[in-house]
Amino acid sequence: NGYHVAVVGATGAVGTRMIQMLEQSTLPIASVKLLASKRSAGKVLQFKGQDTVVEELVPDSFKGIELALFSAGGGVSKKFAPEAVKRRAVVVDNTSAFRMDPAVPLVVPEVNEAALAQHHGLIANPNCSTIQMVVALEPIRKAFGLKKIVVTTMQAVSGAGNRAIQELRDETQAVLDGQDYEPQVLPVAGAQKHYQIAFNPLAQIDVFEEDGYTHEEWKMIHETKKIMADQNIQVTATCVRVPVAVAHSESVWFEVSQKGATAAKLRAILQKAPGVVLEDDPENQIFPQAVQAAGKKATFVGRIRPDQEQADAFHLYCVADNLLKGAAWNSVQIAERLHALNLLRVPK
Ligand code: A2P
Repeated sequence: NGYHVAVVGATGAVGTRMIQMLEQSTLPIASVKLLASKRSAGKVLQFKGQDTVVEELVPDSFKGIELALFSAGGGVSKKFAPEAVKRRAVVVDNTSAFRMDPAVPLVVPEVNEAALAQHHGLIANPNCSTIQMVVALEPIRKAFGLKKIVVTTMQAVSGAGNRAIQELRDETQAVLDGQDYEPQVLPVAGAQKHYQIAFNPLAQIDVFEEDGYTHEEWKMIHETKKIMADQNIQVTATCVRVPVAVAHSESVWFEVSQKGATAAKLRAILQKAPGVVLEDDPENQIFPQAVQAAGKKATFVGRIRPDQEQADAFHLYCVADNLLKGAAWNSVQIAERLHALNLLRVPK
């Protein structure tokens, strides 16, 4: 009794968290199939204490599967997500492959759960840095409207996968030991040049576009408008990779469209907001921190204060586990909501 679930990219940084989130989920689960590349086929992972053998991903992996969570890169999703849907599995895709497709809902349950009703078998999970920002800003938008957002991110290396985590560790150790180290992964695995991340923030995440923005920045701009269903919100972003293993931190400046907002009112709103934990008490030196957010599902928000020069403008600082709320938890949360809304099936 329950769903037959597949995890694609089960050996990866996000995939391993998807397994954990499924273990903790209220979703009724009958079986879990773990899929990865040929390289990992035969590897044994655990699901709820049971040994589970990783299988090579092929189109027929999805026979009898009702829910498939994908996090094995955009190319894998483009090729295999349609195969899964064809075999009547609902796909929640954590890659950027289908996010901007108008026929595909792009969902953060705290913000736009209603969009799930429009799905045709595929739901996209937004970019990690976008998710935590919209969780923090949506309650404010509901109360006072949002005119403009200027965000600077400080993003953990785990967003670039397990190899990037290993690179941060090995390189940091090498620098401390005074040894040479040849970076091979960051800032972007497939790029021409690689740079040191140890003790050195890098203002490049994903590839550069012709306009000088990176693709990560592009995602934050366009995904925010799609999730909030408002093309008029002005959004701009600078995305920076920092030498942190897990949890993204963001400095967000925003302007509300209605009069009357105060920091105290925003704090009261966020205190009650779904998925938000308010950590904002300067007197007691309380503000969100990556090491404290890592391993948790919430988005932590603090440093709420008015712009000293401009009316109706504010700053906040938010932190969330990029592998959980930014990826695995948001995906499993989508699946839980689909189940609760009786939408966990591919419409005929
Ligand atoms: P594998 O371990 O077999 O390489 P990360 O984000 O940590 O780099 O992980 C990427 C995940 O995507 C891994 O589970 C990886 O499996 C999987 N993956 C990468 N390429 C493919 C592919 N062509 N087919 C199936 N899974 C893939």
